[in-house]
Amino acid sequence: MAKKKGRVFSGARPTGRQHLGNYLGAIKNYVALQDEYQCIYCIVDLHALTTMESTHDLRDNTYEMTLDWLAAGIRPEETIIFIQSHVPEVTELHTILSMVVGLGKLTDLPTFKEKAREQPHNINYGLVGYPVLMAADITLYKAELVPVGVDQAPHLEFSRELVRSFNFRFKTDVLIEPQMKSTEVLKVLGTDGQHKMSKSLNNHIELAATPEETTQRVMTMVTDPQRKLRSDPGNPDICNVFSMHKIFSDAEEIEMVNIECRRAGIGCVDCKQLFAKNLNDHLEPFRVRRTDLADDPELVWDTLEDGAARAKHIAEQTMVEVRAAVGLP
Ligand code: TRP
Repeated sequence: MAKKKGRVFSGARPTGRQHLGNYLGAIKNYVALQDEYQCIYCIVDLHALTTMESTHDLRDNTYEMTLDWLAAGIRPEETIIFIQSHVPEVTELHTILSMVVGLGKLTDLPTFKEKAREQPHNINYGLVGYPVLMAADITLYKAELVPVGVDQAPHLEFSRELVRSFNFRFKTDVLIEPQMKSTEVLKVLGTDGQHKMSKSLNNHIELAATPEETTQRVMTMVTDPQRKLRSDPGNPDICNVFSMHKIFSDAEEIEMVNIECRRAGIGCVDCKQLFAKNLNDHLEPFRVRRTDLADDPELVWDTLEDGAARAKHIAEQTMVEVRAAVGLP
């Protein structure tokens, strides 16, 4: 295997079965990055606790998400995939880093303010420290590159500043300043054609859904609102189904839809049926792999344990350096 360029780290909260938005926005990139980088992908269960009413689904959600990641092409032989809390060194680093951060900086972050607005009854300490824990994730594994969506940009900038403060304060270079790599090629809208695809809005299309369920979901997609009748010409430029065609259909089909929609040569139903077919074709190999993996859940948990062992190896080394740099006796 060719030597890889550097280390990538990314984390995602265990949200269960992944949808098309997760796939196009993150997983696809995670998979591609493996060719060039040594990648570490983490299921951040501790971060999830900051916004959770109940931890009841945590285990299931972790399992389902892992299945999706593996079926989508994360290769655990070369990539480390693991659960955050399985390497508790991250909580120690979080505590140490927390001493180098001003409280005002944390409460000023737009991401904190948004969460505080969303859950005014539960503005917990962990929520304030969320970005510190994220910085601990990244620096514990000495990652150079962090693929995340634009919504995470303030957190990444925060991590970079924190690394500079820490290294300056303790006259060290043990922590590495990470670079952000934006994964957002496009904003994936939900079936409502208005909001970002998300499970909580129920406008999502699950990767693991059956072809029938997928087609059903696709048929509910909102198209050009001006096009009310089959005989009305449509405008693909503002149609979310057309955006999806651009990703999942071949050049000829895209051209056909583009022309025929504008002159009412095809209706929205035809257009969606074609998209549903192409999407299902695209997902078929994924579904086969997913079903295979689901045959042996123990193997999936073993994969996560093996990942944790490899992650821990890196984490322990970093912590020896960090403790020494700080001067802990
Ligand atoms: N904060 C990220 C999110 O909400 C998840 C996350 C936790 C993460 N730790 C990370 C992302 C480290 C990248 C690197 O999506």
